[in-house]
Amino acid sequence: MCKADVLVVSVVAIVCASVAPGLARRSPNADLIEEYYVKGPEAGRYSNNLLEDAMLDVPGLIAKYGYPIEIHNAITEDGYILELHRIPHGRDENNVPDPRKPVVLVQHGLCSSSADFVVMGPGTALAYVFAEAGFDVWLGNARGNYYSRRHLTLDPDYKPDTGRNDFWTFSWEEIGSKDLPAMIDYILAITGKPGLHYVGHSQGTTVFFVMGSLRPEYNNKIISMQAYAPVAYMEHNTNPILGALAPYANSIEVLASIFGIDEILSKSPFYAWIGNKFCSDEAISQIVCSHLLFLIGGRSEELHNATMLPLKLAHTPAGISLRQLAHYGQHIHKGYFRRYNYGPISNLIVYGSFQPPLIDLSLVTAPVFLHYAEVDPFAALPDVDRLWRELGRPIQKILVPHRTFSHVDFMWGTEAKSLLYDKTINILRSIEDL
Ligand SMILES: *[C@@H]1O[C@H](CO)[C@@H](O)[C@H](O)[C@H]1NC(C)=O
Repeated sequence: MCKADVLVVSVVAIVCASVAPGLARRSPNADLIEEYYVKGPEAGRYSNNLLEDAMLDVPGLIAKYGYPIEIHNAITEDGYILELHRIPHGRDENNVPDPRKPVVLVQHGLCSSSADFVVMGPGTALAYVFAEAGFDVWLGNARGNYYSRRHLTLDPDYKPDTGRNDFWTFSWEEIGSKDLPAMIDYILAITGKPGLHYVGHSQGTTVFFVMGSLRPEYNNKIISMQAYAPVAYMEHNTNPILGALAPYANSIEVLASIFGIDEILSKSPFYAWIGNKFCSDEAISQIVCSHLLFLIGGRSEELHNATMLPLKLAHTPAGISLRQLAHYGQHIHKGYFRRYNYGPISNLIVYGSFQPPLIDLSLVTAPVFLHYAEVDPFAALPDVDRLWRELGRPIQKILVPHRTFSHVDFMWGTEAKSLLYDKTINILRSIEDL
């Protein structure tokens, strides 16, 4: 038995252990939701059903709405344990297991988790829409987020007296070069398929391009790549927060290592405070809250459901390594798409050159479909065009036909099904000849 087989067998053993009855876990920010919305000053303002959703974790939510759910764990070559959530078939349509179903791996963006594709609920959220349409849906979770905060030997909570906790010394480069290959190999081993479709949102597209370039052998395992709000070049980024941080991208990390901050935006009391103070449905300041969300994720007034904000805040942010943010910051500042910049001396040790190598997009030979929006601050039109020109095998560039559709609408937009998911499903069906 080869090494890979041993790995698969041990991984399957872990799966069986965790699928059992244990679906009673909570969302990343459930404690805070409970404190403010269930017991505290906001008690009685939201329906119990909405609050229950806010406190359930992803498998709990999927089970609550009557869909089949499996929890799987894929282990990366450097020991991270990644949790995958699988909806193997639909509830109302296509609702029997069928090994012929095409497999779709869906990968979330920065600060997010698999929750992005279920919180809006059946009929609206991507995971349910794809399961009903006849796909075997797998939701990935990147290293370091709430569901993948585990490692074979490293402890994410360890606080060393000096230096960094090795668990957190990764950017999205490692998510692309190590997490995606581990998840893809795992899924193909379990399903017995030669390839899968990939849907990525935002950072979920960045990591795909990293994989396709640094691990080009994986291009052959991708039937199609559907890139939602594709992010590689960020020279024309108009997000004010990222833009303001960009020139300091490297000093942020130096400061972080001095103060011992590795993990950010996880269980953030600040975020929950925003949710509590400004986001309740009757609060006049809800408009302020909505605008904060727009500031972070792009404006989206028409497709934004404010009632759902507490639920979104319960599941997002789900935690990242500071280096993920720093790596994006490096790109905005210089307009590069290249590997992580450690500084000239360390670059020389790691890469053999003072500057980090560029990530060569022409090596991404998987068939790529770019789905982009006109007013997306993270995936600005000139940056999407440049990505389109440089990719190894771009197939189609599709503008979402809505004037205000923006970054967060790819996952949370009330009309995302009719504007985006149904179109994607038609593309996959035509490829699969279904
Ligand atoms: C917004 O969310 C609430 C709560 O889930 C739901 O009842 C309502 O129908 C949603 N509105 C739209 C426009 O989707």
